[in-house]
Amino acid sequence: MTDETTPIDRYGVMGYPVSHSRSPVIHRLFALQTDQDMQYELLQVSPEKLEVAVRQFQRTGGKGLNITVPHKSAVRKLVDQISERADTANAVNTLAFRGGEIYGDNTDGIGLLRDLGVNLDITIENANILILGAGGATRGIVGPLLEMQPKALCIANRTLDKAQIIADHFDRQGPISACPFSMVPVDHPYDLIINATSAGLKGETPPYPEAAISENTICYDLSYGLDATPFSVWAREHGAAKSFMGWGMLVEQAAASFEIWRGIRPDTAPVLKQMHINA
Ligand code: ATR
Repeated sequence: MTDETTPIDRYGVMGYPVSHSRSPVIHRLFALQTDQDMQYELLQVSPEKLEVAVRQFQRTGGKGLNITVPHKSAVRKLVDQISERADTANAVNTLAFRGGEIYGDNTDGIGLLRDLGVNLDITIENANILILGAGGATRGIVGPLLEMQPKALCIANRTLDKAQIIADHFDRQGPISACPFSMVPVDHPYDLIINATSAGLKGETPPYPEAAISENTICYDLSYGLDATPFSVWAREHGAAKSFMGWGMLVEQAAASFEIWRGIRPDTAPVLKQMHINA
């Protein structure tokens, strides 16, 4: 229990904008469930104020932060120790302040894998996977997906160069390739199509490759919303077997961050139930 001499442990999510974030709700539910005395704040911080804000949070006794769009790459230079997965992804979504040092990690990939594998029972091993988009979100998930040994993983992006750079970076870890949207190889059906573009956030629907989808394809949008995202709508309209939004990944990456900070793994199932899951 806290008393007057023991300040409550502080955590938060830093982003820009951040007002839409569900992380405070999720972490409050985790804290209640696991009986942890902690508070979790929304911290809207513009890119030019990121360093000052992180250092101030640390100086004033903050214990940990989630880092979200657009700071996941920029925050890396503030980190004293980085996990291998964050280093490979070149993106940090979790900071832990430990004895004057900043530890940086990335729980996005593991969050996606847990949602796919544990919550949704989707098999990655031997699957043909198509990822749409080649930004920070894609960088965070490619390494963990390749570790699960898919048959092939293709990254399609509006700007081919960006997809190619990621494919080259991960080339030694598994069967990965890059292409523009207009040239997605369709000689084999895709088991899983993951939308990692930020197009939906802006209300845009890119020319997603229609020929890549079949009645056996599962579609997963890293984005989520109370209403179906544009990609989920596209997936349904084009006959996908199933289509999911990224609520599960959101809750699972939060659980992994919570465990890094508190040393306790919360049960995600009841929290997921309280979020909107559909598509
Ligand atoms: P994040 O960190 O969320 O991945 P990002 O690094 O800005 O964000 O990457 C956004 C991704 O969405 C990119 O792959 C971007 O394509 P480009 O690399 O060609 O910019 C993609 N994207 C965003 N809006 C898009 C649109 N309207 N059509 C197609 N792709 C889009």
